[in-house]
Amino acid sequence: MTILDGKKVSNDIKNEIKAEVDKMKANGEKVPHLAAVIVGNDGASLTYVGSKVRACERVGFESTMVRLSNTTSEIELLDKIDELNKNDDIDGFIIQLPLPPQINTQKVLMAVDPNKDVDGFHPMNFGKMSLDMSTFIPATPFGILELLDRYGVETKGKHTVVIGRSHIVGRPMSILMGRKGFPGNSTVTLTHSHTKNITQITSQADIIISALGIPKFLKAEMVKDDAVIIDVGITRVPDDSEKGYYITGDVDFATVSKKASFITPVPGGVGPMTIAMLLKNTLIARDQHRN
Ligand code: GUN
Repeated sequence: MTILDGKKVSNDIKNEIKAEVDKMKANGEKVPHLAAVIVGNDGASLTYVGSKVRACERVGFESTMVRLSNTTSEIELLDKIDELNKNDDIDGFIIQLPLPPQINTQKVLMAVDPNKDVDGFHPMNFGKMSLDMSTFIPATPFGILELLDRYGVETKGKHTVVIGRSHIVGRPMSILMGRKGFPGNSTVTLTHSHTKNITQITSQADIIISALGIPKFLKAEMVKDDAVIIDVGITRVPDDSEKGYYITGDVDFATVSKKASFITPVPGGVGPMTIAMLLKNTLIARDQHRN
């Protein structure tokens, strides 16, 4: 069994990005600049955005965090997006999700300039991805592809089962794993809350990508021997610790890891890869922007 070490691989990627940024600085060129908009005070969202800003500092990017109150109106947010679209100093930006209920998420994501949409959530970019055109790939699916690639995990002709159809992970992942090329060329089953007999499906999978958000959902008896297991779940479970919670994935790691050929841990698997690939998308945005 091999652990797919997202912490290590994401560090390698950040070092590669930093080397490119160092070259830009040496040549007196402008470095990439990422902005992140966060609306409200959701604890997990604040943690994620904080990690994104720290990652920018680590590789030498400029970063801007835009904090808006929980009562921000849709118009106010759209005005902010318009400002970021027009600001030539900003190469890419993200709107951290989820947004408060008074704001229409799809409307907001469609307002982002597709050339600055480093999350890859704009329908134009999602469509391009579906058509195998070059574009921004959402960071979590992009991170999973990169992890599979760097460990040389074979995907061609394999049966991939994706659990969860979110716009951020499950849906794009199901498209990417079935695309031509590597990683890809696999036969994909997309499962969700209305799927019947899920164990019958997961137990036939060569590769399982679980993005459900239910702690320890995937048990050993749902997995065949030598399966590749990618755990995208990051759920905060309350406990008596100082933080008041611990982090757990969708996979019952203790038992499933005994059957798996490759498996991602939580934490330290897919999570750090997401941030590394957001930086990568920002670097791509900057290069397109300057040329
Ligand atoms: N919320 C959960 N995951 C993500 C992500 O990848 N990007 C943004 N913007 N919000 C998220």
